[in-house]
Amino acid sequence: MVLKAAVIGTGMMGKNHVRNYFEIPLVELCAICDVDEVSGKELSLKFKCNFYKDYNEMIEKEKLDIVSIVVPTSLHKKVACDVLKKGVNVLLEKPISGTVEDALEIINIAKENNVKLAIGHIERFNPAVIKLKEFISNGRLGEITSIHAKRVGLYPSRIKDANIVVDLSVHDIDIFCYLLSMQPDSLHASGGIALNSSREDYVDILLKFGKTSGVINTNWITPIKIRNLSVTGTKGYAELNYITQELTLYESNYTKDADSFGDFLVKFGKPNKVEVGVLNDEPLKLEILDFIEAVSNHREPLVSGTDGLNALKIALDVVHQIKNN
Ligand SMILES: NC(=O)c1ccc[n+]([C@@H]2O[C@H](COP(=O)([O-])OP(=O)(O)OC[C@H]3O[C@@H](n4cnc5c(N)ncnc54)[C@H](O)[C@@H]3O)[C@@H](O)[C@H]2O)c1
Repeated sequence: MVLKAAVIGTGMMGKNHVRNYFEIPLVELCAICDVDEVSGKELSLKFKCNFYKDYNEMIEKEKLDIVSIVVPTSLHKKVACDVLKKGVNVLLEKPISGTVEDALEIINIAKENNVKLAIGHIERFNPAVIKLKEFISNGRLGEITSIHAKRVGLYPSRIKDANIVVDLSVHDIDIFCYLLSMQPDSLHASGGIALNSSREDYVDILLKFGKTSGVINTNWITPIKIRNLSVTGTKGYAELNYITQELTLYESNYTKDADSFGDFLVKFGKPNKVEVGVLNDEPLKLEILDFIEAVSNHREPLVSGTDGLNALKIALDVVHQIKNN
């Protein structure tokens, strides 16, 4: 069955949702909605669909199965609840909302109306992350001792309603929980406001997952864009570039029987380096395909409302610590 789709909010990220729905044969892109009439109409002509300025009118007039909500974070709750109440399945961009109360309301309304709710934690669908998760799950890296993520770059001025933690660190918070299949038991954070006039724009976070440490460095200050992840385990070390989807594995040659410093150097100095062949693909396309499949096959999406809530809770705890320091 072909699902009828629409996108609410067609700014920087929403445009990508529109293009994907247009290109995916399993769906028909029926309509888009944005309060900016000029750019919205232009986009609707390009992608051959109807344009609406008011999303409630769009939901009334179009018989929609699925909708992506890609409006600024402060509007997530209002728009998501309005759409879910009409019985339409929703792919809501990350973070799920700005507060835990709003997130809970969104999740409850999805349940009450028996519709699917997916949260756009896009890195879950990064093919390099999927491969890395496989290596961790099958023990190729051994016992994981630490995970480090660096997500830095200059401030995108269009973001008017979210701080660095809720907007960016939340990606890596979710990925750490996903890779380790658990929630952190403690956290420490340090950060603040440097270049931005009102919102936190740099942070360093230490999350403890039992014996494993997770370290996240995020900012809107570093003049180049870096999106890296590395994982250290007792059997090896993996480096991942979120942008290029490159994944490199260094398999340890360590054995405990080194009987001289020479052996020690040989055994530590030359790990087996493997450039893992990752089949590049667009994470957003894979995220939307998962959402479509979840709706069609009546299963939970890979990233549920609860996953979105869990990541948000941790992000808000981090913000709380920064503010209180
Ligand atoms: N998953 C990712 O990697 C990723 C990347 C960027 C943004 N996002 C998320 O996407 C969302 C949007 O971010 P963006 O960068 O595209 O912002 P943006 O400002 O570029 O776009 C938001 C759009 O929503 C429109 N809008 C505002 N109120 C509306 C309403 N009531 N009805 C219809 N349209 C409305 C605006 O006119 C604008 O076009 C945010 O939640 C952000 O966190 C996710």
